[in-house]
Amino acid sequence: MAFECVECGYSSAKWFGRCPRCDKWDSIVEVGGYEERAPGSVATIKGKVENLAEVETRTSERHRSGMESMDRILGGGVVEGEVILLGGPPGVGKSTLFLQLADRFSSSGKKVLFASGEETASQIRVHADRLRLGNKNIMLISSGAVSQVESAVRENRPDVIFIDSIQAMIDSENSGMPGSVKQVRHCGQKLTVLAKSEGCVVFISGQITKQGDIAGPKVLEHMVDAVLYMDAMDGNLRLLSAAKNRFGSCGEFSMYLLTEQGLVQTQNAAELRAAEKVVGQASGCVRMGSRLVSVQLQSLISGSYFEYPLRRTSGYSRERLLMLSAIAEKYLGLKLGSKDIYLNVSGGIRVEERAADLGVICSLYSSVKDSGIGSDAMFLGEVGLNGEVRPLEDIGQRVNFAKSNNYKSVILSGYGSGITLAGMNVKRIKSVGEVKDILG
Ligand SMILES: Nc1ncnc2c1ncn2[C@@H]1O[C@H](COP(=O)(O)OP(=O)(O)O)[C@@H](O)[C@H]1O
Ligand SMILES: [Mg+2]
Repeated sequence: MAFECVECGYSSAKWFGRCPRCDKWDSIVEVGGYEERAPGSVATIKGKVENLAEVETRTSERHRSGMESMDRILGGGVVEGEVILLGGPPGVGKSTLFLQLADRFSSSGKKVLFASGEETASQIRVHADRLRLGNKNIMLISSGAVSQVESAVRENRPDVIFIDSIQAMIDSENSGMPGSVKQVRHCGQKLTVLAKSEGCVVFISGQITKQGDIAGPKVLEHMVDAVLYMDAMDGNLRLLSAAKNRFGSCGEFSMYLLTEQGLVQTQNAAELRAAEKVVGQASGCVRMGSRLVSVQLQSLISGSYFEYPLRRTSGYSRERLLMLSAIAEKYLGLKLGSKDIYLNVSGGIRVEERAADLGVICSLYSSVKDSGIGSDAMFLGEVGLNGEVRPLEDIGQRVNFAKSNNYKSVILSGYGSGITLAGMNVKRIKSVGEVKDILG
């Protein structure tokens, strides 16, 4: 009898309530008999001793997919032998993204193999037609057998391989159902070895369920070079972000809309913003990875029916909202004590940066006064406990960003040197109290 953690693959002869490796509760499942791993049962790369000085350096040339957002997330393209895991819940668009990427790689002259253990070749063809993919020069295998993928790779020597999905793969040399921790780990290992020994790029998709009770990509995370996650946001919005990235930076992300024709990159929430004045909504911008992204900060303030008024946030720290509402109460005279406050960051983004403070305060003010803020104004500033609006170090970049995203005015700190930019109305304030003068 043995037990295994479905999240990280930790195994033990004893049952445990909380996994000692990944600290997850209730992630333990019973697996077959406990067996010592026989030497050689795990796929390995043939080892040979070499002198460091004589080792050939393979230039890690980047291969671009041509899908700009994807290349940026991967640090400028994929590297030979790289293994990339794409995790996400069912139906989020993993297969769609893979097909689109396969099409791009093959259009740029790469040899592409698409192995699907989930869909038949004709289903894939239907999917590709629906996405109106131009290039159908993609080798398909609709099989979940890792050994078949291995022989197809050795025979056809593709540059890029897509495995959709790891849960559908099976390694006949090992016991266990497809999707079990054991199979996921062994198949993952074989595919990783294949990538390194053949020098091809391998993309692997993996499903994670809401309960996380299927052997998910967590088991594979330490095996692969990059881990991307695709999450579903409001409506058809999808967020793709890098959780681990050996050849690029973490914290990069892209947003897409999932449409009939597949994933279409959306710049950011600016495209989704309403053109008119909106009550309780202020625009700000935050830095994510190397990019700036505009965000809409939305507040709703209403009389409370509860003994303790509610403070609810989505995409924002509740603690920070409590602090900013205290500041707004003191310096703007807003009476918030008996009101419920809801704060939402639209577009499913989580805002950690203090640069959004001024925007949050303005959205609270706008909601209490029931007077809209023009959606062409961007608020940029950190707010201190004394109600002072503090300057941001990279304010120049942010103002430029506002301009290139068609904002007409920016409201920022009156401390430090001023900024002028043609076509941009720059308003400077030193204290939160001056919000009244600006918003009226
Ligand atoms: N044949 C189809 N016709 C219409 N919509 C589809 C079809 N296949 C998939 N979709 C839509 O595309 C979305 C993404 O599908 P898919 O890329 O297969 O997701 P995943 O691989 O992450 O499970 C699904 O939620 C579904 O709404
Ligand atoms: Mg799929």
